[in-house]
Amino acid sequence: MAATSSAPKPRASVTAPDVRARKGSGTPLVMVTAYDAPTARITDDAGVDMILVGDSVANVVLGYDDTLQVTIDDMAHHVAAVARARPNALVIGDLPWLSYHVSREETVRNSARLVRAGAAAVKLEGGRKRIDAIHAILDTEIPVMGHLGLTPQSVHAIGGFKVQGKQLEAARALVDDAVALSEAGCFAIVLECVPDAVARLVTDTVAVPTIGIGAGRHCDGQVLVLHDLLGLEDRLTPKFVRRYASLKADATSAVARFAEDVRAGTFPASDETYHVADDVAEAIELYGASTT
Ligand code: KIV
Repeated sequence: MAATSSAPKPRASVTAPDVRARKGSGTPLVMVTAYDAPTARITDDAGVDMILVGDSVANVVLGYDDTLQVTIDDMAHHVAAVARARPNALVIGDLPWLSYHVSREETVRNSARLVRAGAAAVKLEGGRKRIDAIHAILDTEIPVMGHLGLTPQSVHAIGGFKVQGKQLEAARALVDDAVALSEAGCFAIVLECVPDAVARLVTDTVAVPTIGIGAGRHCDGQVLVLHDLLGLEDRLTPKFVRRYASLKADATSAVARFAEDVRAGTFPASDETYHVADDVAEAIELYGASTT
């Protein structure tokens, strides 16, 4: 009789067309951010569909107050670290501010940097004014994810980190932007910090999946920043974040216990120490005595 293995079957790799095809499937898509190999392994082992190497790396890893400080070099560095974990989830590299605003050529080169670092798609922020950039990237066969609503790279232009689309005119503009992104060929669109009624209208209108963050439950999928959901980042808790762990508190308490043990002389214990055989220990002792 043939032996049957109890090892879990490896998941098939998720592609941008797979994500696009999930529109209307009834099973919400799951996206989480990751910025290095360990967080890529955590999110992939948890079975997420997409890993976004977000420019939120600026806030939650690099200590900046906004995302405007990260460069294409920073993003390629973090995409490469995530890709080294060989996740089955679709790896999406976030194009940072100024990497797709200057010219079509720079936009394409910067997108290619993220793909060569290991991303299988890129994300950019903005609506109709980004159509030219989106066409340029798609022309090089790189899938593009859009991002509308609160677009943190526009923090100065929109006057702060505020919920978007709260008035009818703004809601209509958001729907028009989403339709333009969908028609231009984006395989999915992130909707950040928009009222649920607006997110629902966008989701019902566009042909591609919407992935919400602070956009209510009617989107085709949801995304959270990993450090928020794990409680590793606890300085700010936006209304839309649900914490599933308190890793900052756990980690602080673990390091404090280590410090306590070191100061009390109880670390390292004998079984945490390398030893030599008794006769070698005796010889070392005799040698020490002869040299002092
Ligand atoms: O950079 C990021 O983490 C993002 C998500 C908030 C969607 O863009």
